[in-house]
Amino acid sequence: MDTLNVQGGYPLTGELKIQGSKNTVLPVMAAAVLYKGVTILTNVPMIQDVYCMIHILEAIGVKIALSGHCLTMDASLVESGEIPMEDVKRMRSSIMLLGALLGRVGEAVTSYPGGCTIGLRPIDLHLKALEAMGAEIFEDGTKIRASARKLRGAHIRLDFPSVGATENILLAATAAKGVTVIDNAAREPEIIELCLFLQKMGVSVRGAGTSRIRIERKKELRQTSYQITGDRIVAGTYLAAAAVAGGEVRLTGIYTPYMESVLRAFQNCGCDISWGKEEIALRSDRRIRAVPWVKTSPYPGFPTDMQSPFMAMLAYGDGVSMIEERIFESRLNLAAQLAKMGADIRVEENRARVAGQGRLHGALVQAEDLRAGAALAVAAAGAEGMTRIADPGYIKRGYESIDQDLRSLGGRIWW
Ligand code: EPZ
Repeated sequence: MDTLNVQGGYPLTGELKIQGSKNTVLPVMAAAVLYKGVTILTNVPMIQDVYCMIHILEAIGVKIALSGHCLTMDASLVESGEIPMEDVKRMRSSIMLLGALLGRVGEAVTSYPGGCTIGLRPIDLHLKALEAMGAEIFEDGTKIRASARKLRGAHIRLDFPSVGATENILLAATAAKGVTVIDNAAREPEIIELCLFLQKMGVSVRGAGTSRIRIERKKELRQTSYQITGDRIVAGTYLAAAAVAGGEVRLTGIYTPYMESVLRAFQNCGCDISWGKEEIALRSDRRIRAVPWVKTSPYPGFPTDMQSPFMAMLAYGDGVSMIEERIFESRLNLAAQLAKMGADIRVEENRARVAGQGRLHGALVQAEDLRAGAALAVAAAGAEGMTRIADPGYIKRGYESIDQDLRSLGGRIWW
């Protein structure tokens, strides 16, 4: 068990380039399996989930070379469609390989990704869509075996704009014969980036970022190099840390049109924030205005991944704020850990009533998921005294170097 230590009360000041996006690089790495050749990705975040995906890709035959933040994948010889069980348990989003493996080798064998502390996270939408495209799915309670002699295009309407299901369909459709149309598709930036990558590989994709996406592979795929966009959630996390700690930060390497709802939410909390196309500036005197409601919803709404860092920030607000989590049924567990630091947060079903306190105090707390762990670092940055965050490995799954990043801005934080 690692412990992230934070001595609160030090303002954050300076400039920081934001790492590449975890939730963009993972589906793009899966998409590279579809091309029988070399794919090169730059600005790849050096995070645990990327190392886990690399382990899976090597297990199925992909040759990998990593140099700094540049990842070279040679998928000329992909022999197996079996995703190692231990990797599925470590990283549930490995399920997005189903579509790519079905498209490449005609089969995919995986175990149930299982839920996690933020929710049950079923995969019914993934499986139903792949069946509609001609896959046969066999489930025996522990393993899922999918096979398809030849995937065919289909018109799929998702019951919910699932990010992962949309990604799986996009990858399967890239290998399918004919046209695939997705209605009620996810519109997240990660979908837009995946579609841009597929277009660069030579796939015809129309409607990226809208609720209706049309995909057709008309010609052979081609070798592609692609730069991974900045991580919008890491950027939002660091903005929240600066808001509670005070100071003046400038974040670069981030495409701010993907962050509209998040940046507006910081404005609503009274933050002195401004932004250009690829940079954000925030100046804070530590005063944070309570907000009547923060409701998470699919993009372009307020992202569920920013809900935890925002709860940590609103715990310092000048009044009562309400948070409603509408994506994951158990993503309010952070409240109990913040309470150990003196926060007054009452959770009822999927709503949290946050009664802001002028100050929180350091404590021994526990990271229970990726974003909750990062949110505790946010709260600790503004707290009196030392906070120790016991972390079984969540934070490093998504944050390349939260300690070095915040230290470079004047924070007192170390593993
Ligand atoms: C992706 O998860 C992200 N993960 C999540 O980020 C993010 O919170 C989520 O999208 C929403 O934006 C990656 O990209 C690796 P969903 P995903 O399918 O694809 C239900 C982080 O912290 N659902 O859009 O799993 C599901 O239970 C992570 O970086 C079904 O019911 O999200 C949930 O309630 C956390 N059946 C809702 O849809 C399905 O088949 C949203 O899930 C699939 C999903």
